[in-house]
Amino acid sequence: MRLAGWSVVALAALATGCGDDAPVKAAEYGEVLFNDARLSTSTFNSFSCATCHATTPTPAAGRLDSGYTLYDSAFRGSWWGGYETRLLDAVNFCYVNFMRGVAPLPEDSPQSRALYEYLVSISPNRDAKPLPFTVVKDAAEVARGDKARGQEVYRAACQVCHGEPHTGAGRNTELASVLPEVTREYDEVFPGVPPSLVVIEKVRHGQFFGVGGNMPPYSLEALSDADLGALLTFLEL
Ligand code: HEC
Ligand code: HEC
Repeated sequence: MRLAGWSVVALAALATGCGDDAPVKAAEYGEVLFNDARLSTSTFNSFSCATCHATTPTPAAGRLDSGYTLYDSAFRGSWWGGYETRLLDAVNFCYVNFMRGVAPLPEDSPQSRALYEYLVSISPNRDAKPLPFTVVKDAAEVARGDKARGQEVYRAACQVCHGEPHTGAGRNTELASVLPEVTREYDEVFPGVPPSLVVIEKVRHGQFFGVGGNMPPYSLEALSDADLGALLTFLEL
């Protein structure tokens, strides 16, 4: 979502203002930042927080995100399956790795304070529990599934960044390759490895485990093996 004409300076002034409504103003600024890819100054970034996270108690139908909904996220106590024990670190992990932020947002910056107030404003449950995050370490073949379900999975999980299958129409970044056509090069690039396994590894590991890029990884909680199998059937892999 692009918001015409907001000025970082003006909104930052609101966020840092004093008075009883200062947290409310900061939360409003935080919501704007949450939805705007320009939070990151990198010209290669096309993602906002909202690209990968819902903010409603359960994500809207037709959304399968790599990241959890951030409703009730502020008081989970630990994040990223226990890897992060400070909320700002959990946010900055995304900011630096996925949004190509040059450096983590400092604790006392208007942006991190505003994002904090926004996350608190959508977190009514002070006793929220940490959520699991199961990484598939060794990418392995999965049973194929139903093609129609696979199409739903593609739309819900991949389309926001990769656009329409076969053409990439509507993708949010030119850096995301056209699926499944890109896999036709895999015999040359990854000789001896089944193209399906390359895709499974990319989905499960994102940019990590030496894969590279800036795509997020999908944990088992975010995408089941059954849905991944259905997706591969849809992609004819
Ligand atoms: C490209 C996708 C992507 C973007 C963009 C992104 N995140 Fe994330 N985020 C993830 C994934 C994947 C995880 C790990 C799964 C999880 O814990 O939700 C995660 C985890 C988190 C968590 C920890 C949630 C938990 O309970 O474990 C927080 C908080 C968070 N992100 C906030 C943000 C904020 C704020 C932004 C914007 C500054 C942002 N993220 C941008 C993908 C993304
Ligand atoms: C938040 C945006 C985002 C989402 C969601 C996303 N991708 Fe990606 N993906 C990218 C970007 C950007 C690249 C190129 C950079 C990289 O390799 O990380 C990429 C690269 C890939 C590649 C490697 C392409 C190549 O050039 O070899 C594959 C395969 C892939 N994605 C599959 C998927 C599948 C399948 C889904 C859905 C389950 C998905 N992606 C969801 C952003 C995304």
